[in-house]
Amino acid sequence: MNISHTLYSGAQGWDKLQDIILEYSKSGIYILVDENTNKFCLPDLQHKCRGLENALVIEVPGSESNKTIASIEKIWLQLVDGSAVRNSLMICLGGGVITDIGGFAASTFKRGMNFVHIPTTLLAMVDAALGGKTGVNLNAIKNQVGVFAPPQAVFIFSEFLSTLPTRQILSGYAEMLKHAMIDGETLFGRLIDLSAPEQISNEKDILESAAVKMKIVTEDLDEKGIRKVLNLGHTIGHAVEAYSQKNDPDPLLHGEAIAIGLVCEAFISMHMLGMPENDLKRLVSQVARFYPHYRLKSKSSEELLTYMTHDKKNASVSKLNFSLIRSIGQPVYDQYPGEKLILESLHFYMNLDAGFPW
Ligand SMILES: NC(=O)c1ccc[n+]([C@@H]2O[C@H](COP(=O)([O-])OP(=O)(O)OC[C@H]3O[C@@H](n4cnc5c(N)ncnc54)[C@H](O)[C@@H]3O)[C@@H](O)[C@H]2O)c1
Ligand SMILES: [Zn+2]
Repeated sequence: MNISHTLYSGAQGWDKLQDIILEYSKSGIYILVDENTNKFCLPDLQHKCRGLENALVIEVPGSESNKTIASIEKIWLQLVDGSAVRNSLMICLGGGVITDIGGFAASTFKRGMNFVHIPTTLLAMVDAALGGKTGVNLNAIKNQVGVFAPPQAVFIFSEFLSTLPTRQILSGYAEMLKHAMIDGETLFGRLIDLSAPEQISNEKDILESAAVKMKIVTEDLDEKGIRKVLNLGHTIGHAVEAYSQKNDPDPLLHGEAIAIGLVCEAFISMHMLGMPENDLKRLVSQVARFYPHYRLKSKSSEELLTYMTHDKKNASVSKLNFSLIRSIGQPVYDQYPGEKLILESLHFYMNLDAGFPW
């Protein structure tokens, strides 16, 4: 399976994008957007690139609930109406919902048309647009149907982040923290030192974070080994996300839940693998600075454990498989902390609203 694709950014990225657009302008260009990227990002793209005058803009509603096969069908039908051929190009301009459904629609249309991603959320720049996974949800079960299909290229232009709401920036920042915890002190030290959300969107940090994911996914195409380290923070984070979706009128965003998962799993890493306490302190201080404390009651622990076991195909709690770190930059996978330590980590997070224990 080939999932390799090149990342481009900055002035060189715009030049490369311009070349690709001119190459495909005769065989048809289709730009997939949602209502926000249509408004906030498309004008900039059209302004900066020549050759898009005849491109067909396909807008789909950009929420997770529209990541369905019905949306894919609508895209396919618009491609047919717009006379797209296999050698046409789709430009997916948006967050992870657009890159996931756009990649799926393009890679299945006429047995695979060309596509590139221009991610416009931080989360898509450092995570969703990378690695060639595409797909849709089925009956609200996430990402049940999809294919591995690498885009021809991914373009990271941090200027698109200027219109992204701060909560969405912080959602992406949690994935950047995760990548930095996996990668090492240089990136982690830089990210942990940021003092305001406006400092997050700098292209150097984004590109380095994206490179961490790219390096890991290209090392483990079958997802049998090292790719599992990207699950750091996600065993508990996914449970918190599901809990919030069930219990809150305005649920946590994915990355907001992952920030909580990172704290809990760093706590577990410290107790189980000897991760230095100071690394936990630094992470906790930064999470407390950037994210409001999420109120979980002690009685929610059982519900969270149930979500964790369901997420892992009803594994028993003792078989819950975690990806952890021995220290910043030393990830390990296939770790089984067990119920007691998982619960302690949840209580550690819950008690943080009373102040740090240090
Ligand atoms: N394929 C993968 O490997 C992978 C990895 C991680 C996540 N994902 C998927 O990514 C999706 C989440 O992605 P997301 O967090 O980017 O969410 P999203 O695509 O829903 O975007 C979040 C919101 O930001 C808006 N938006 C996007 N760009 C904007 C901009 N520049 N200015 C203003 N508003 C803008 C969107 O319209 C949307 O309302 C999930 O469906 C998840 O499953 C996929
Ligand atoms: Zn994630």
